[in-house]
Amino acid sequence: MSKFQRIRGMRDFLPSDAAKLRHIEAATRDVAGLYGFAEIITPLIEHYDLLAVKSGEEIKTRMYVFNDLGGRKIALRPEFTASIARLMATTLRNEPKPLRLFSTGTLYRYDEPQFGRYREFWQSNYEIFGSKRPEADAEILSLTHQLMRKLEVQKFWLKMGDVGILRGLLTEEEVEEERQNRILQLLDAKRWEDALKTAKSFKVSTKGITTLKKIFAIKDRDPSKVLQKTMKVLKDYESGVNAVENLEEIVNLCKRSSDEMDILVEPRFARGLEYYTGMIFEVFVPEMDISLGGGGRYDKLVEMFGGESTPAVGVAHGLDRISLALEKQNTPQKILRQVVALVPIGEKAVPKAVELASQLRKRGIHVEMEIMGRTVSRALQDADRREASHAIIMGPKEIAEKKVMLRDLRTRQQRLIDIQELFKTLER
Ligand code: HAM
Repeated sequence: MSKFQRIRGMRDFLPSDAAKLRHIEAATRDVAGLYGFAEIITPLIEHYDLLAVKSGEEIKTRMYVFNDLGGRKIALRPEFTASIARLMATTLRNEPKPLRLFSTGTLYRYDEPQFGRYREFWQSNYEIFGSKRPEADAEILSLTHQLMRKLEVQKFWLKMGDVGILRGLLTEEEVEEERQNRILQLLDAKRWEDALKTAKSFKVSTKGITTLKKIFAIKDRDPSKVLQKTMKVLKDYESGVNAVENLEEIVNLCKRSSDEMDILVEPRFARGLEYYTGMIFEVFVPEMDISLGGGGRYDKLVEMFGGESTPAVGVAHGLDRISLALEKQNTPQKILRQVVALVPIGEKAVPKAVELASQLRKRGIHVEMEIMGRTVSRALQDADRREASHAIIMGPKEIAEKKVMLRDLRTRQQRLIDIQELFKTLER
């Protein structure tokens, strides 16, 4: 393989793709501000052991792992949550709660490259530490809804569940945690039958298996009906019932936050990561069968990293997938370039043009200076191709009159104006 080829699963973002990604990233940062999250920046690499704890088999086997020159076993981060929980267990352990932390950047997973699945991808990640109340879960769901609305994602829904439903039942059936994880992994892969077989092999009672089957079969577009049915099916499993009640409270708060929030409750829903202890959710659009985001409550992770017992809930959105969804839904992602081409006519006009470019930039106007010595018509053709909004043309005649020709490249109209008027027009 040629060393000049890009590494499999990696992508180059050319200017228009980079602009789309940064546009989405800017929206995630705005939403962080709206919900009171402060940004933190953590390293791209961490100790393998930190990232491997509770990340779940799915991610653990797909990490980029290497030894550094000091012999440490290092991995590229496959997610933000472990790094942020590490901070909560150490540097931030005495910070007053709640703590709302936002991060964005690239993550690395050795996934099989395909539509919407890359080996390097972007997330916006939000975590709330210190609250075990359903209001905190509702904030995470609400900000996710808000972000999708802000980016004009059409027709999306939030699929919700609670790991306490299945874990509650399995714990009462005396299935140990490691074995529960195996069952939940099968459910995450939608292998319902295999999950039942495995549960049987772990000595779940006949009543337990019947209950699991009933839970797997509950489907309804109306969240309250799903919750009612689940409650009925689970009535003999107390901790399962508690999980359903908790989920109900969160769903009700979400409805208060926005009655437009489209929620689908699925009691059999599981996620690949093992650290979840309560509500879990993912975001979907009809055009794609992969999630645009996912998250949930994880009340034990900080403690597992040696910190205080700290309840936590969070979400990560896949920026690459949001961009794909917008493309699929034909939502314009084109960001109009507000840039002005500045074209001197002839060598003599160059110093004046350089001076003017400086004055314009001081006023915050974006200027692309003609630096190829081309004729006016060539330079204008190029400015068109590059989608500049205006061109300023200045030759000795214009300079003598202390004026410039301002051409609007969208309407194709041009007029001779003096410099002060030029500033005013472009600043507008
Ligand atoms: P996750 O479900 O592994 O959760 O990832 C969240 C989102 O990242 C996915 O919904 C998807 O949009 C995007 N994503 C994941 N893998 C890829 C990939 N290979 N290519 C493109 N996009 C991808 C987490 O990462 C948790 N840390 C979320 C969380 C935060 N839970 C609590 N706090």
